[in-house]
Amino acid sequence: MSTLEIKNLHANVLPTEEGQEAKPILKGVNLTINGGETHAIMGPNGSGKSTLAYTLAGHPRYEVTEGEVLLDGENVLEMDIDERARAGLFLAMQYPVEVPGVSSSNFMRSAVTSVRGEAPKLREWVGELNAAREQLQMDASFSERSVNEGFSGGEKKRHEVMQLALLKPKFAVMDETDSGLDVDALRIVSEGINRYQEETGGGVLMITHYKRILNYVHPDFVHVFANGQIVTTGGAELADQLEAEGYEKFV
Ligand SMILES: Nc1ncnc2c1ncn2[C@@H]1O[C@H](COP(=O)(O)OP(=O)(O)OP(=O)(O)O)[C@@H](O)[C@H]1O
Ligand SMILES: [Mg+2]
Repeated sequence: MSTLEIKNLHANVLPTEEGQEAKPILKGVNLTINGGETHAIMGPNGSGKSTLAYTLAGHPRYEVTEGEVLLDGENVLEMDIDERARAGLFLAMQYPVEVPGVSSSNFMRSAVTSVRGEAPKLREWVGELNAAREQLQMDASFSERSVNEGFSGGEKKRHEVMQLALLKPKFAVMDETDSGLDVDALRIVSEGINRYQEETGGGVLMITHYKRILNYVHPDFVHVFANGQIVTTGGAELADQLEAEGYEKFV
């Protein structure tokens, strides 16, 4: 079983313009996720949830100033983005980026080749890709379309879960993968996440604003995130409490 340990993580967002200062966002995040577990993070807008996701993935805009991230004891913070993906970390972004000129099928094959260390055999690959696409109920035409270009919000989210199905990481950070999904898509995406977890025994960190996805993807733990930290941890019932009462008493 794999373990992802986040210890006292502090991180700044780096300025985009000269003369501005780095701004501290993460202020001591502590969280351990074991393979097979599902953790939900809920918290107010701007509290730093996406910053945590990006910092784990190694986005260059974020600078770690203190703390540790260990994947099966290996220091993740010393790895570059590619190495983190190969080590088994996956991030489904809140706002997936468009990659004009790169077809979804080429993108998926490159990603899989990089993570697995060798190119999948072409014949098997076509079957694998089609199976993942069909499970997410995406039309065949998506394979030839540029990554995320012109995709609807919900299509982008399904495309992220398709990557999850193909890459089979040890840990998946899903940043608001449920936002903007219609009721059917919510179920399809949830089934994709559950299937990934059943097949691989991976760990899931689900950042969400809504309890509804947690009815399908059952969390072992729910964490309240506020002001750059986890301030409370509970079970699934905490999501009900948050929905009923809001964040005020935790912040
Ligand atoms: N380049 C930047 N310059 C200044 N502040 C930034 C920059 N990037 C992010 N921030 C700030 O960092 C804080 C945390 O942002 P983050 O996206 O992590 O929040 P979040 O918890 O994911 O919110 P949401 O629920 O709305 O997605 C916000 O206040 C945001 O404005
Ligand atoms: Mg966010």
